[in-house]
Amino acid sequence: MSLDVQALRAEFPILSREVHGKPLVYLDNAATTQKPQAVIDALVDFYSTCNSNVHRGAHYLSDEATRRYEHARTVIAEFIHANAREEVIWTSGTTESINIVAKGMAERLQAGDEVVVTEMEHHANLVTWQQACKHAGAVLRVVPILDNGALDEAAFASTVNSATKFVAMPHVSNALGTVNAVQALIQVVRKQAPNALVLIDGAQGIAHGNVDVQALDCDFYAFSGHKLFGPTGVGVLWGRRSVLEDWPVWLTGGEMIATVSYQDATWGALPNRLEAGTPNIAGAIGIAAAVTWFQQLNVADVQAHEQALLQAAVERGATFEGLKLIGNAPNKIGVYSFNLTGAHPADLGFLLDRQGIAIRTGDHCAQPLMDRLGVPGTARASFSIYNTLDEVELLFRGLEKARDMLA
Ligand SMILES: Cc1ncc(COP(=O)(O)O)c(C=O)c1O
Repeated sequence: MSLDVQALRAEFPILSREVHGKPLVYLDNAATTQKPQAVIDALVDFYSTCNSNVHRGAHYLSDEATRRYEHARTVIAEFIHANAREEVIWTSGTTESINIVAKGMAERLQAGDEVVVTEMEHHANLVTWQQACKHAGAVLRVVPILDNGALDEAAFASTVNSATKFVAMPHVSNALGTVNAVQALIQVVRKQAPNALVLIDGAQGIAHGNVDVQALDCDFYAFSGHKLFGPTGVGVLWGRRSVLEDWPVWLTGGEMIATVSYQDATWGALPNRLEAGTPNIAGAIGIAAAVTWFQQLNVADVQAHEQALLQAAVERGATFEGLKLIGNAPNKIGVYSFNLTGAHPADLGFLLDRQGIAIRTGDHCAQPLMDRLGVPGTARASFSIYNTLDEVELLFRGLEKARDMLA
């Protein structure tokens, strides 16, 4: 079986619009994915039929909103194979999820402790740890990548040691598309640094395959709704219950307490203790709708389609004069980062946009990685399930035109 891409496209209203008088070719999916009608309907339905605050069930609507909101948590827990639904903490997105962990860790790290990250981090999983280390006087160790954009796994193994207290790494690199062998890497951590905790930045990994947090054996997995066909402003921090149970509270206020006096307070149980204030109720319901929608698809079909798009781009790009592919690790998702001799990525982005083709240009929130690669930035086309081989071809025709205009 394969994906019925035209039928899928019909579920995404935005894909039928025009930009600058041209049909939209949306190739910026690593920045954010588009939303199917099922997700849009779920958001509208919540606000139209049961908008109310949750966990304050003095009336019917509040009970219904709470039921839907907590059901959304169950949907996510099952999707990522969490051990318990209480391990799913709602956040505003990957960035906030990682910050909750890094801020908590900053209180626990001691001078001389080591935190391990990789050269391919998004700033969200780098600046957080760099600042936590600064706060605690800990050492940030950065595992190098190979020239093809794959992680240097031998260097990873020689970096993790008994001083390692935390390892934070991406499931998939947003700038290169590299898929890290996180399960095997976590086993290395368990063996060489049994007391270390591991966080996987799943911002890019979540929409491209099966995520099973128990099989991975990580301690935290962070992701955003908007990269998974869901709404912006909502995301998830999954944490192992035994770790989350006494994780430092990061936000205090309503909903997260057990008891309060004028002088002191005690914290409630998971998941509420890490979710102060009125949550993004519609967002949680929206992300669950996105997951339910996504689960109708066959993961093998999703992956095969994305690989076909990537392969088409790689083959077409190989004979495109002056084009240099950035990142060709053996295991990668449909992220096609490149540079074109004589053309600044920003100019390419602008000229493609005039042809209705949306890509991302710049450093992709990975400045140190760009330095490591010796480029100021890249142009990046990132593919999703609703993209077509015709759109890949349109990208290259658009690049031909852009190159002619810049010549
Ligand atoms: C690998 C990676 N980590 C973290 C983030 C941050 O995600 P958000 O902006 O949704 O918090 C992104 C966003 O592009 C990303 O690609």
